[in-house]
Amino acid sequence: MKIEKADRIVFFLAALLLVAGNGLVVYRNYQTEWRHYQSGYLELARDKADNPQVKAMLTSRKVRIEQQIVRQFGEQRVDRCVTCHAGVDNPRFLDAPPPFRTHPQVPGEHSLREFGCTSCHAGNGRGLSVEDAHGESEFWTEPLLKGDYIEAGCAKCHPAPYLEETPRLRMGARLFKEKACYGCHAVESVSDGKLGVELTEVGRKWGIDYLVESIVDPRANNFESLMPKMDLTEEEVKALTIYLKSLRREDLVHGSVAQYIELRQWHNREPEEVPVSVESGKLVFESKGCVACHTINGVGGKVGPDLSVYGLQRTGDWIEQHHLDPRSLIGGSSMPDFKYSASELESVTLYLLAQKKLSVDNAAIYGSSAGQ
Ligand code: HEC
Ligand code: HEC
Ligand code: HEC
Ligand code: HEC
Ligand code: HEC
Repeated sequence: MKIEKADRIVFFLAALLLVAGNGLVVYRNYQTEWRHYQSGYLELARDKADNPQVKAMLTSRKVRIEQQIVRQFGEQRVDRCVTCHAGVDNPRFLDAPPPFRTHPQVPGEHSLREFGCTSCHAGNGRGLSVEDAHGESEFWTEPLLKGDYIEAGCAKCHPAPYLEETPRLRMGARLFKEKACYGCHAVESVSDGKLGVELTEVGRKWGIDYLVESIVDPRANNFESLMPKMDLTEEEVKALTIYLKSLRREDLVHGSVAQYIELRQWHNREPEEVPVSVESGKLVFESKGCVACHTINGVGGKVGPDLSVYGLQRTGDWIEQHHLDPRSLIGGSSMPDFKYSASELESVTLYLLAQKKLSVDNAAIYGSSAGQ
């Protein structure tokens, strides 16, 4: 009898521990940093909203991980920085505290939506705590580039001869010659010094601190260093560090940047007016490459939804608004923005409204999406 009772107590305690343990995990999870910042942002946005409808919407919105998938520039990247830096493209957040503040103006045209954040800032795009995301943990070789050091990030897409907007980078490249670094170090297509190690990819290999040390006090990182200690001002060391950090042997300019510019020019070309009709709508649909992603009556791609019975699902107003700004209706939409003339917009809308061909094949499609 006694043993049974003891067993029961042990059992009870074990169960209690399990529940408490689970509770703790859930609690910790709830408290993770990104949640803290997301709800901070939502609270602030609610305070700033003057429209009661928007206020209500923000009140009911749950915290969530926000991410940008950047495919244009080099390797595909997933940037979740906007989970915490949620106000970057909101002009109402100019005077908000960090990390919610509106992003400062950067020279040139870089849409934050298309560029993401790590394209300029490096860091760890997937990170959800400040330490992880900013790449401050010991083993991450690409910590956040910030302040003046961000110029090292600009060089990925704006290499030598460097932009005037990146003055420290230019100064660093100049000092590399003036201070005789080039005499000992090889950098592909810049110099061919042989006494020191090759520096063509040095920015990929080392973080800022190591680079500074190697320049200021060569022996710090290698006891028997041959490299002379040089008399450099703080400003010169910074410029050299930015220059070295930018060296990565990575040619985005002739690959993805060239493609991006070409694509953007294609998107931005002035659309022509067409006669308003279902037939011109069909031509618009074909000429803008919609078929690459959408199927109508068995023809086309599968990236976006089948549109064979789309005319039964949406109104003309919805369709026009969706074309003008897909993300205003579908948050996080991956559909590209197109530029339409007024008559193109009207025609493609008519064409889509005319898609009502309910067949055995597409009845199932209608059934599954009609409720949205
Ligand atoms: C978990 C929330 C969180 C995430 C995720 C996050 N940040 Fe931050 N960030 C902050 C906070 C808080 C600050 C302000 C305080 C600080 O510097 O630590 C900040 C500051 C910054 C600063 C200014 C630093 C300075 O000292 O001037 C930059 C630049 C920045 N973040 C970029 C990024 C980038 C790029 C990413 C994604 C790779 C990112 N952040 C992801 C919370 C976050
Ligand atoms: C991932 C690539 C990428 C990065 C990183 C980048 N840019 Fe750009 N930048 C572009 C592209 C693409 C254009 C558009 C060029 C065009 O339309 O001709 C551009 C345009 C510019 C322009 C307009 C003048 C010109 O040469 O076209 C300036 C100035 C500029 N960027 C400055 C910067 C600065 C400063 C940084 C760093 C803070 C930076 N960029 C980082 C890709 C990049
Ligand atoms: C085209 C390059 C570029 C891109 C893309 C970019 N930034 Fe920046 N960012 C800059 C520059 C330049 C500065 C100013 C550097 C400085 O003087 O501190 C800056 C500054 C910042 C700061 C400090 C702002 C302050 O108020 O002190 C934060 C935070 C930041 N960026 C976050 C982000 C986040 C989050 C993203 C992605 C949504 C992003 N950045 C994308 C170039 C860029
Ligand atoms: C007399 C030759 C000589 C000159 C001049 C010289 N270096 Fe070096 N440097 C070396 C040698 C040799 C090493 C190899 C590692 C060591 O001995 O520390 C080195 C190492 C380095 C490293 C570390 C690289 C790594 O991967 O660990 C950096 C960064 C560096 N030098 C930058 C510079 C800069 C910037 C200048 C100009 C201000 C410069 N060096 C001038 C000889 C030289
Ligand atoms: C790169 C692929 C892609 C291209 C090109 C594309 N779309 Fe889409 N479209 C999508 C995706 C993905 C969705 C699904 C929802 C979302 O992410 O927005 C979508 C959704 C739609 C919808 C349904 C929206 C709703 O009511 O739910 C319509 C209508 C549409 N696209 C029309 C077009 C037209 C017209 C074109 C050409 C001018 C076009 N799409 C080009 C990917 C694409």
